[in-house]
Amino acid sequence: MSVETAIGSAVPASVDDIPGWFFWLDRAMFRAMLTHQQETPPGHLVELGTYLGKSAVVVGEHRRPAERFVVVDLFESIDALESTEVGQANLRESLRSYRSLTRRAFERNYLAVRGELPDVVAGLSSEVVHHLDPQSVRFMHVDASHLYEAVRGDVESARLLLRPGGLVVFDDIRSEHTPGVTAAVWEAVFTQGLIPVALTTQKLYGVFSDPEPYRAAILELAQRDERIWHEVQQIAGQPVIRLGESARARQQRQAKSRPAPPPPAKQLTLWQRVRRGLARRLR
Ligand SMILES: C[S@@+](CC[C@H](N)C(=O)[O-])C[C@H]1O[C@@H](n2cnc3c(N)ncnc32)[C@H](O)[C@@H]1O
Repeated sequence: MSVETAIGSAVPASVDDIPGWFFWLDRAMFRAMLTHQQETPPGHLVELGTYLGKSAVVVGEHRRPAERFVVVDLFESIDALESTEVGQANLRESLRSYRSLTRRAFERNYLAVRGELPDVVAGLSSEVVHHLDPQSVRFMHVDASHLYEAVRGDVESARLLLRPGGLVVFDDIRSEHTPGVTAAVWEAVFTQGLIPVALTTQKLYGVFSDPEPYRAAILELAQRDERIWHEVQQIAGQPVIRLGESARARQQRQAKSRPAPPPPAKQLTLWQRVRRGLARRLR
């Protein structure tokens, strides 16, 4: 794949045009959670791991005047990686997956959709704690390294930075290639006081404070949006809402992406068939 294909060479008109991994259900969840927070006191927004900005433009849409939106990504700042084993493994992982990534592409996409850049930090996700005060963040999306030690660090940052009532979202909590994320996030549930509120195919939504207002907002979304299927399971004494795509929504989405069947073969009249036969004989 060429660099242009990977990062998309065209200026995006909307989030739909930005390459990345941000399933419609999580977009709906982000919008509902950030809208739910609109009536709460100011708090900053954070994204660890932005890639080309697909999820960042959705988060940034909800920044209010007194708030900052801080995004942290390695982009190509290889110098930021320490010479530790974790640093080297992270570097290998990043280069393998995001070789084509450039800060320029992120900034181009973000500016095209939002008109004003967030606070961009090029470096390791662990640096985020140097850019924000403890307990000052209301929403944090963790989507950077997939390695266990790094995600443990991101959990610690979330615990430090989230204010009471803040929400943290961890991506890739159960992909086949990301067991480190799964381990670090569920470890936080059992030993660090992270309360899981909801699960989608990709993400875990959690809090370190009262989960009730978010539970109510998520159930309200699930009941209002007919594309969403949900159930509630008890995990470690907490009701956790599982959300997915309803069977009807899946069928409709698949039908839209299926190529249209070819038009039926044209029936020729008797006179057209006779004319074609004569023409062939005269050739
Ligand atoms: C899956 S992508 C992010 C996707 C993006 N949130 C979206 O929805 O399109 C992961 C990003 O994390 C960055 N990354 C990987 N390890 C990191 C680390 N330790 N610190 C900061 N960024 C990191 C990569 O450069 C990459 O851009």
